[in-house]
Amino acid sequence: MNPTLLAHADLDFNAPMSDARAEELIAALAPLNSAEVVDLGCGWAELLLRLLEAEPSATGIGIDTTGEELSRGRHNAEIRGVAERARFVQSDAGSWDGTADVVISVGSSHAWGGTRQALEAIRPRLRHGGRLLFGEAFRETTPMPDDLGVDLSLADLVELTEECGFRMLRLATASTDEWDSFESRWCGALEKWLLNNPTAAGREEVRALADEHRTGWLRGYRGALGFAYLVLTPGS
Ligand SMILES: C[S@@+](CC[C@H](N)C(=O)[O-])C[C@H]1O[C@@H](n2cnc3c(N)ncnc32)[C@H](O)[C@@H]1O
Repeated sequence: MNPTLLAHADLDFNAPMSDARAEELIAALAPLNSAEVVDLGCGWAELLLRLLEAEPSATGIGIDTTGEELSRGRHNAEIRGVAERARFVQSDAGSWDGTADVVISVGSSHAWGGTRQALEAIRPRLRHGGRLLFGEAFRETTPMPDDLGVDLSLADLVELTEECGFRMLRLATASTDEWDSFESRWCGALEKWLLNNPTAAGREEVRALADEHRTGWLRGYRGALGFAYLVLTPGS
């Protein structure tokens, strides 16, 4: 039993993203016909799978270091009938040196060591007319808990993408409802496991993780931490 994987059990995305947001972002990435899409730090690649469902001529590669999350993605790809167009690779996203029409990086910039490093590494990997969906945290309010290590405001983040050679096609930010759904489902999956496993080993660890996460969210970053979804294209 891995408590962190357990906490992901009830999540659709490992990010504060609703179904409507996913649909909106996939539409914003158009045109997707025959597009080769790479999702870096894909987790179980839910957004990539929805994109492949929406565009039957697109193909996708999901790259992540966590084998269990990739297995969930492979399984879902089979169930959803897109497995022939989806490949999953267990690897460091920061070492990816291919090219793509569309790159997705949602909550994975740490794979390159930070926001700027991610943007600088991904830009030359986009083919002509390519698009990047970049999902990244930003500082919604000042002050906010320092230990989150998020320095950029939303304006800072967008300006940084420009400094790194991108132009912005679309901006969306996670709503309070998206955040609350994400964080409460994260904690709720652990609570359900505790209810259903009254004598299991590891209960103390699971309860402590749920308590720590809930407190960090409700007494810490709720309302202070933002999450942006930027659709970017290399500037000419
Ligand atoms: C916050 S999750 C986001 C997952 C997914 N993009 C989503 O939105 O559902 C970050 C993911 O990055 C992965 N990850 C962390 N370091 C990585 C690395 N160096 N290379 C590839 N993936 C990495 C983690 O395993 C995790 O699945």
